[in-house]
Amino acid sequence: MCGIVGYIGQNDAKEILLKGLEKLEYRGYDSAGIAVANEEGVHVFKEKGRIAELREVVDANVASSAGIGHTRWATHGVPSHLNAHPHQSASGRFTLVHNGVIENYVQLTREYLQDVTLKSDTDTEVVVQVIEQFVSRGLDTEEAFRQTLLQLKGSYAIALFDNENKETIYVAKNKSPLLVGFGEDFNVVASDAMAMLQVTNEYAELMDKEMVIVTKDEVIIKNLDGDIMTRPSYIAELDASDIEKGTYPHYMLKETDEQPLVMRKIIQEYQDENGKLSVAGDIASAVAEADRIYIVACGTSYHAGLVGKQYIEDWAKVPVEVHVASEFSYNMPLLSKKPLFIFLSQSGETADSRAVLVQVKELGHKALTITNVPGSTLSREADFTLLLHAGPEIAVASTKAYTAQIAVLAILASVAAELNGQSLDFDLVKELGIVANAMEALVDQKDEMEQIARDFFTVTRNAFFIGRGLDYYVCLEGSLKLKEISYIQAEGFAGGELKHGTIALIEEGTPVIALATQEHVNLSIRGNVKEVVARGANPCVISLKGLEDEGDRFVLPAVHPALAPLASVVPLQLIAYYAALHRGCDVDKPRNLAKSVTVE
Ligand code: F6R
Repeated sequence: MCGIVGYIGQNDAKEILLKGLEKLEYRGYDSAGIAVANEEGVHVFKEKGRIAELREVVDANVASSAGIGHTRWATHGVPSHLNAHPHQSASGRFTLVHNGVIENYVQLTREYLQDVTLKSDTDTEVVVQVIEQFVSRGLDTEEAFRQTLLQLKGSYAIALFDNENKETIYVAKNKSPLLVGFGEDFNVVASDAMAMLQVTNEYAELMDKEMVIVTKDEVIIKNLDGDIMTRPSYIAELDASDIEKGTYPHYMLKETDEQPLVMRKIIQEYQDENGKLSVAGDIASAVAEADRIYIVACGTSYHAGLVGKQYIEDWAKVPVEVHVASEFSYNMPLLSKKPLFIFLSQSGETADSRAVLVQVKELGHKALTITNVPGSTLSREADFTLLLHAGPEIAVASTKAYTAQIAVLAILASVAAELNGQSLDFDLVKELGIVANAMEALVDQKDEMEQIARDFFTVTRNAFFIGRGLDYYVCLEGSLKLKEISYIQAEGFAGGELKHGTIALIEEGTPVIALATQEHVNLSIRGNVKEVVARGANPCVISLKGLEDEGDRFVLPAVHPALAPLASVVPLQLIAYYAALHRGCDVDKPRNLAKSVTVE
C-alpha cells in the first residue's frame, strides 16, 4: 500500500527512483509519480496506472541526482493524474509525497488554507500547502516541516523537497513504515528495504514521530522536539535475487513453488543442536502459562490463526480465541486474567493489527508477533518475535507466508505442549518433513490444477468451498485466494452450515470445492457434497490419501491429518492462480488490493 523512495547522491536519480518504485509495486498502487531536482528547478512526472506508464511520461533528458518518488493506493480522492503524488505547494517551491492518512486534513484546511485553492482531492496536498504557509510566516524549511508535523493527526511517511535547497530531502514518519539507507556519497529513503537493494543493503529504521534531514553526505534523525537521535544501522539479509521472478511468469507461482523449501527452512531454524524443536527465549513458557491466548490478524493471516488455534488447544491445552484485528480494536472482548496476544502478520506492518497491539500494550499485556519481516513495526513493538523464514513474499496473494505461519504455530504449540506436560503422539519434525515432500509432489502437478481451473472456473461467476474442522479453515483461505485474484465471488463454508440458508444459491453447475482430509468428519462432508449435488452443483472433491472415494477429483499425498492444511491449500492456491490467469487477470497485482495494508 503506497510506497516512497527518495535518493540524493551523484547518479541518475530518475532511474534509481523508477527502479525503486518497481520494487514497491507489489505493495499495491493505482498511480505513481516522481519529482527530480536540478539547477532548472523541480520536475514532476506522474501518471495514473502502472510504473510502465509513468516511465513513458518521464522526460529522459532531465538530468538529476536527487529526487523523490511514490506509488499511490487511493484513499482520499480517486486514482487520477491529479491526485497522484508528488504534490506541490501553491508557489511550486515545495514538493511532497506521503503514505498514510491525515485524519485532520479538513481542520488543517480550515485553519491554515482559507486563501489557498487546492488542486487535488487528497489529504496529502494539505500537508505541503501548510508547510508553505509556515514558511511564509518566516520559518525556515526544517522548522516549518517540524511545526507542520506537530499539527498532523493520523499516519504518515513523508518525503519533502524544497526547490530552494536541492541538496536536502526532509522525511518524517508516524505509523507508516519508512527506512533510511546509507551509501558512499549518497543516501536513500524507502518504504522497505527491497526498494533500496539496488544501491545499498545498509539501512536504519525510523521511529514514529521522527523527522530526518537527508543529504548526500549525512543523515540526521531528530525527534519532533528537535533533539538529535542516534540509531544503529542494519545490513538487510536480502539477496537481490530473492526479489526477482527469475524464469517464473508470476511471483505467485514462484512463491507457491517455494513452499517445500520454506517448510525445510523452518524445520531447520526451529531445531536445537540435538534436533529437538525449540523456540527462542521465554516464548513457549509465555504460551504455556497464559490462561487464554488471543490471536489477532487479518485476511490470510487470520485464516492461518484459525488453524493455529486448533494446535494450541489440542496440544498445549491452552484456550485460544482468534480475532479479526479491525473488529477487535473497536469491540474488545472481555479479556482473561493472564492473556497472551499473538499477532500474526506476514508484513508486520498491517495497521489494523498494529492498532490492537498498541491497545493491548497500554493495558500491560504481553504480545508475541509472528512475522516474515524482521524489524517490522509489529515485531519491534511486541515483547517477543518469531520469524517465518519464508523469504520475501511479493505477490499480493499470500501463499508461502500462510503455510509458514501454520508451521511455526504448530512448532510453537508443540513446544508449549511439552512445557505443559502434554506430549504429541507423533513426531512433528518427521511429519513436517513429509509435508515438505508432499508439497513438492503437489507443485509438480500443475497440469492437473490448471485443468481443474479450466473445468470449474472458466465461465462461472461464483463458487463455494466447503469443509469441516481444519478443512473449513482451509476453505476460507482457498475461497479468499480465488476471489482476490480471479474476481470470482467465492465463499468458504463449514460443510454443515450451507443448508442453513446459503444453499439457496446453489444452481445448475455451481462449482463446489470440497475438502475431505479429516477422518472424523469424512462421512459428514461427503453427505454435504451429496446435498449440493442434488441441487445441481458441480462438485470437485479433494481428499487425503486413505480417505478417497470414487469420483474424487484430486487425491492429496498422505500427510498427518493435523498437518493436512499445509498440503490441501497448495492445490487451492494453484487452482486460483490458473483461474485468474485464464480469465486474463493481473495475478500478482489484483485490482484494488495492496500487499501491505498500512491504513486502518
Ligand atoms: C491475502 C492477503 C491478505 C493479508 C492481510 C494481512 O492473500 O495476503 O489477506 O493476509 O492483508 O496482511 P499481513 O499478514 O501482512 O498482516
